[in-house]
Amino acid sequence: MSVVDKVIAAVTPPESEESRKEARAKARAAARPGDWLSLILTHHQQIEAAFAAVKLAETAATRVAAQKKLAVILTGHSNAEESVIYPALTVANEKSHAAMAYTEQAAAKTQMALLEKLAPMSQDYLDKLEHIRGAVAHHVYEEEGKWFLELRENLPAADQTKLTSRYKEEFDRYVGAEAV
Ligand SMILES: [Fe+2]
Repeated sequence: MSVVDKVIAAVTPPESEESRKEARAKARAAARPGDWLSLILTHHQQIEAAFAAVKLAETAATRVAAQKKLAVILTGHSNAEESVIYPALTVANEKSHAAMAYTEQAAAKTQMALLEKLAPMSQDYLDKLEHIRGAVAHHVYEEEGKWFLELRENLPAADQTKLTSRYKEEFDRYVGAEAV
C-alpha cells in the first residue's frame, strides 16, 4: 500500500466531532478578521457545506453539478495552501507537518478524480464520497488544531500579512467568480 493509499484509507477520522469543534473554536480565537487563518477557516466551512450538498443531491445531474462546485473550492483552497501556507510551515520549522499536508492533499486530489469515474447515484459513489469527506475532515483537524495554530504563533507579523495577501491571491486566481 502506498503512502497516499494509507492516508486515504483512514475512512473515519480518528478524532471525535467534539475534538474537531474544539480545534475550530481555538483556531477562530487565534485568527484575526480578514487574515489568512480566518480566510482558511471560512473556506474549510464552505468545503464541508459543499460535501453535504453532493450527498444530499437527489438526481444525477444535480449531484454532478454539486460535485463540480466541491471540486472547484477544494482545489482552489488546496492549491493556495500548497503554494503559500505549506511553504511557510517549512520555513517555520514545521517540515514534517508540511510533508504530511502535501501528502494528504495529493491523496484527496487523486480520490476526487476517481470519484468522477463512478456513477453518481451508485452506492460506490457515496462510499467514496464519504471516504474523501472523512480524510479531508481529519486533514482540516490537523491544520486547525495544531499546524496552523503554531504557524500563527511563530511567524512574525510582517510575514503573516504577506501570507494573507498571497493566500487570497492564489485562491481567487483559481476560484475567482465561481466563489461559493
Ligand atoms: Fe485546509
